[in-house]
Order: sequence, then C-alpha cells, then structure tokens
Amino acid sequence: MSNNNKYILAIESSCDDTGASVLKNNKVLSNCIANQEIHKSYGGVVPELASRAHQSNIVPVVHQALTIANIDKKDLSAIAYTRGPGLLGSLLVGSSFAKSMSLSLKIPLIEVNHMQAHLLCHFINDERIKIPKFPFIGVTLSGGHTQIVHVDNYFKMKIIGTTLDDAIGEAFDKCGKILGLNYPAGKEIDDLAKNGDSDKFKFPIPKVPNLDVSYSGVKTAFLNFINNNLSKNKNFIKQNLSDISASIQKNLIKIIMNKIEIASEKSGIDRIVIGGGVSANSEIKKELELRKKTKNWEVYIPPIEYTMDNAAMIGIVGYYKLLNKDYSKLNQVSDPRLSF
Ligand code: KG4
Ligand code: ZN
Repeated sequence: MSNNNKYILAIESSCDDTGASVLKNNKVLSNCIANQEIHKSYGGVVPELASRAHQSNIVPVVHQALTIANIDKKDLSAIAYTRGPGLLGSLLVGSSFAKSMSLSLKIPLIEVNHMQAHLLCHFINDERIKIPKFPFIGVTLSGGHTQIVHVDNYFKMKIIGTTLDDAIGEAFDKCGKILGLNYPAGKEIDDLAKNGDSDKFKFPIPKVPNLDVSYSGVKTAFLNFINNNLSKNKNFIKQNLSDISASIQKNLIKIIMNKIEIASEKSGIDRIVIGGGVSANSEIKKELELRKKTKNWEVYIPPIEYTMDNAAMIGIVGYYKLLNKDYSKLNQVSDPRLSF
C-alpha cells in the first residue's frame, strides 16, 4: 500500500446503531450499520438493551466493513471512534473496541464528536456531495439534538442555538407515538404527510428568545389536540392521519426554519449546511429549496446514508484529525454530554 494513503477504520456507537466504516483518505470504501430492532416494541431506545446489542454487533460489523473495503486490519493507519455525546453504555462499547484495536495494531486512536461529524459528513469525497466553503451555518437535526452552529472551519465551531428541551427528531417520534406509529416515527410521518393537507390543523409556535428552540410544549399541545378530538370521534386519527401528519410536520419544521432564518440574518452567512436524521425530511428540504430562490441561500443536504447515524461521518472527521496529528489517549473517557 502507498505510504501517502491513509486508511481509517471508524466506529460509531452513540445510540442504537452500531456502525463501522473504512475510508481511504476522504473517500468511503465501506459504511456498514447494524440497526437495533429490539427498541421498536418499547417506543424508544432502552439504554441497557442498546449497549448489549452493540456488544454483539460490533465484531461482525467491523469485520463486514473491512471485508467490503477489502482492507486488512494491518494496513489501517488509524482508528476513529465516537467519544460523545450519546448514551454512556453505548459509547463505552465503541470506545473500548477502538482502544483495544489501536493498542494491538499500534496505530493512532482518534476521538470524534458525534455532532461535529453530522456536519462534517459534507466533506466526504463523493460525486453526490458538493463540499461547502467556510464559514457556514450548520444545523444538526437528530433524535437527540437540535443545534444551530456557527462553523468557521473543521474544528472551530460554536453552538449559537439549541433546543431547551426535546430534540426535533424526538418531537417527531413522540407525536408519532401519540398517533400509534412505530418508533422511530419521523420517516412514517413524512411519508403520510405526502398525501395530507398541511394547513388543515394548526399548532403553536413557541416563543423562545434568541436562536434557541423548544419542542416539548408543541408535543403537549399535540397530545391535548388528539385527546380532545378522540373524545368526540374515536376514529379521528384513522380518518385524518395524513392531514394530521402533514400539519404537525409543517409545524415542527417551521419552528427550526424560523431560527435558521434569524441565524442567517444575524451572521450575514447564507450558506446553510444540515445534518442528522431529520435532514432527510421532505418538508425541510422543500423549505430550504424555496429559500435558495427567495433568499439566495446556498443549501447543503447530505445523501440519505450520511444523514442518519453512520460511521463514515466519524471517519471523515478522523481523516482531518489524522492529518493534524490530533490523536486521543487510551485513558480518554467517553462523555455522554460532550460539547464543542
Ligand atoms: O441522526 P439520527 O439517525 O440519530 C440520532 O443521533 O438521533 O436521527 C434519528 C431521528 C429520529 O428521531 C427519526 O424519527 C428522525 O431522525 N427521522 C426523520 C426522518 N427520517 C429520520 N424525521 C423526520 N423526517 C424524516 N424523513
Ligand atoms: Zn446522530
């Protein structure tokens, strides 16, 4: 193998997906994920079960990633792993595995912040991806986080807005649960909304100062709205499922869109880069596309496999850190609340 090429094995285990990916420099050779179906019947992620499932998934997923990439572990240049934020028990499985591999192969260990990775997936060398220039407004929209980030370069990022309570994906999932949908419900709400009237039902837009957002009040308003209507008509959900889905989706997206607009106006930056599971949502894509015309925004939306939790995004951060020789120590601890 050429000495100039860097081969990075990346491991992601922050929540309920076990991911492993191999990169050759900034190109993805493999990106494997084992989803944990076990949580579906609980309507949310059960941390203890997630951690156990990571333990059984991690060896086969890493093996699969190396096999698809056709790379022998002896040829790896570094191991990148998610240090946080996430569930402690889940993070520990990935970090212990990564540490053992780096120790046995005698190659650098690189820690990665999961939320930074959701934004830096846009730097993967892939013909579908147009790489954004710095600075940009990054927006992470996931099941665990909702952040607006001022990004000056790969590692100079400042959170300028965040949710005060629930994350946007969590709001989708909780509203879906109220409607009797399976966890996680974001994609199903999105699909149902395609045949619905988004102006049929109105929900509140919370008044939150600055660039922060709140989603827990809307969820409660939604629960009350559904219960009120069910008390008058027990078939209310069934008869209106598409319209309810379209209306609540429009509301959840409007809350963050309003703040992205303010962030852009305040900073004078019209380059908007989104990441995280909810960036697959068709309503936010539609709203962002619209602002390309009305506000002259440059909009960056990742390919679907890089929106959700995945190890390739950990690998691309690992690549840039490797170039900077920004290594981690074996005694570095996982941090469920890691910020930046
Ligand atoms: O980034 P991600 O895979 O995991 C976390 O770090 O949380 O995001 C998962 C979240 C879930 O809440 C899921 O319901 C939501 O992303 N999601 C969507 C869509 N696809 C996934 N929400 C709205 N519309 C979608 N199409
Ligand atoms: Zn995530």
